Amino acid sequence: MSHPSILVTGGAGYIGSHVVLQLRARGERVVVLDDLSRGFRQAVLDAPLVVGKVGDRDTVASVLREHAVDTVMHFAAYTIVPESVSEPLKYYGNNTCSTRTLLECCVGAGVRHFVFSSTAAVYGIPAEGSAAESTPTAPINPYGTSKLMSEWMLRDVASASPLKYVALRYFNVAGSDPACRIGQASPDATLLVKVACEAAVGKRAEVAIFGNDYATPDGTGVRDYIHVEDLAMAHLDALQYLRGGGASTTLNVGYGHGYSVRQVLAAVERVSGKRLKVREQPRRAGDPPALIARAERIRAELGWRPRYDDLDAIVRTTLVWEQRLLSDPWK
Ligand code: UD1
Repeated sequence: MSHPSILVTGGAGYIGSHVVLQLRARGERVVVLDDLSRGFRQAVLDAPLVVGKVGDRDTVASVLREHAVDTVMHFAAYTIVPESVSEPLKYYGNNTCSTRTLLECCVGAGVRHFVFSSTAAVYGIPAEGSAAESTPTAPINPYGTSKLMSEWMLRDVASASPLKYVALRYFNVAGSDPACRIGQASPDATLLVKVACEAAVGKRAEVAIFGNDYATPDGTGVRDYIHVEDLAMAHLDALQYLRGGGASTTLNVGYGHGYSVRQVLAAVERVSGKRLKVREQPRRAGDPPALIARAERIRAELGWRPRYDDLDAIVRTTLVWEQRLLSDPWK
């Protein structure tokens, strides 16, 4: 039997592809499963890619067997909050039902470690705008609910089998590979930092502010923006923790402080040297006013040490990536 591999579902997507690069840089064996519905073949630089769906039992079972997978990192999911509000069943199908199939295959194949890509959206609208892992979960959109249901399945599977997991609740991911090999390439991006950087490089005419009447210091939404490199590193730390015999756990991944939409736009103007054309619009469906991580636990449990806790650095890597996409668009 060959050396065990790590299966990265959604490894052709934005976050998964950054994790794959870091795993490969550590010399890990990796296999990517991605249906390329939102991911890009070009994002998988250094690992075999199986094109298929996480909800397809036969495909998953054969990948687990053929690659002797003992660890799964599960990113494959739809992630756009407003889309989840208008098409909830699409989210429950692709995020929740597919995760159930994946877990069933994992149990059948004796997978030992599972790292799950969860979200701060499980908290809904937490009091004071910040959430610790002990904060009650109360998602306000189907995206958050679809991920929370997966967390519950994982918890129950882990208590009924030898599988151990780390569920990581991401706050707002932004930025890209500092070497500019990969980044978020979605043609219809919705994430604020990417959208604002697209405007700064001339790819779109203006940026919307969705809601200027929230009960936040400047009236716009506040989020805990974290660099994708630091987020990816949290997955490697989770792997090391599980291999060291760590118990199953659920952890926030954020820096513990937030920026408003206006502050993000100001950073993009500062770093790019361009004035953005900004249009104030009504609130977007499913958006909480503020969402900031209480982020002590991941440092204590995994020893996670972020290296890019700097809004300008996040914006800078995004701008460089958007410049690259202008001349070399991914399809
Ligand atoms: C993001 C993630 C979601 C995750 C959540 C955790 C994606 C697609 N979304 O959602 O999975 O659960 O973080 O907090 O990965 N905004 C504007 N104008 C824009 C775009 C956004 O004003 O053009 C505002 C939004 O209203 C919000 C903030 O910027 O206040 C961030 O929005 P966005 O970047 O879309 O991320 P989230 O919706 O928070």
